[in-house]
Amino acid sequence: MNEVYEKLMKCYEAVEKKTSFKPELALILGSGLGDFCDTMDVKETLSYSEIPGFPTSTVAGHKGQFVFGYSGEVPIVAMQGRVHYYEGYSVQDVVLPTRLMKLMGAKTLFLTNAAGGINPSFHAGDFMLICDHISSLVPSPLIGANIEELGTRFPDMSEVYSRRLRTIIENSAAAEGVPLQRGVYIQTTGPNYETPAEIRAYGRLGADAVGMSTAVEAIAARHCGMEICGISCISNLAAGISSNPLSHKEVQETADRVAPLFKKLVKRAINDISKSSQA
Ligand code: HPA
Repeated sequence: MNEVYEKLMKCYEAVEKKTSFKPELALILGSGLGDFCDTMDVKETLSYSEIPGFPTSTVAGHKGQFVFGYSGEVPIVAMQGRVHYYEGYSVQDVVLPTRLMKLMGAKTLFLTNAAGGINPSFHAGDFMLICDHISSLVPSPLIGANIEELGTRFPDMSEVYSRRLRTIIENSAAAEGVPLQRGVYIQTTGPNYETPAEIRAYGRLGADAVGMSTAVEAIAARHCGMEICGISCISNLAAGISSNPLSHKEVQETADRVAPLFKKLVKRAINDISKSSQA
């Protein structure tokens, strides 16, 4: 068996022993956004460290557990803390949790992150609906023998972020009165923030926001047939757009400040997405 798949199945067996909860939707929570789980009716939690072989996050502000429960009426699994490529894990390990949540039963992947704003019309504290991404600066998580059990060798990426879900989220945001920007997310490896020259280059490539996660998870999820959506919290203006030096503290402070609004938007969107699947 393929090594990557073997590891995934071992993790899955470990999860199955600990919980029989069947999530409809998987939610990955970005920096400072982990307290979304406080709004859930939590049924079970599973620490990443309880899953043999599972990559565990080392970033301050990232907790490191799966939270199983209900957001409104919707059964979900939320990742409180994700794993990043810059922590030294292989990109295949970075996407293992995403694939695992698909095996748990989640058909939809809802990605969130904190990102630097490149688009000059963005402000710190804005939310951006991710319409597409640029992942060319990081290795594809699909490199290596294809895992036929999950998907095809050359998966199409012409609509990674489902148009259907984007429309639903736009309506959710309007209904809640939450302003929502739209744009393209570019993933860098990190962990260093970018130089102003890099940000100018990414802007010319077509990116509106920059971060160190998300695109590889979206690729893995698309490969295994999940329907995907994502929202970035613009936690800061990217290097050179703002005159201030960038810091993780600023990223976390902005994410914390807008967290109540973010939670409201995500909760409403999850509810609306679930209703649309039952219709
Ligand atoms: N650059 C990269 N990643 C980020 C940023 C940024 O400006 N802000 C939050 N995550």
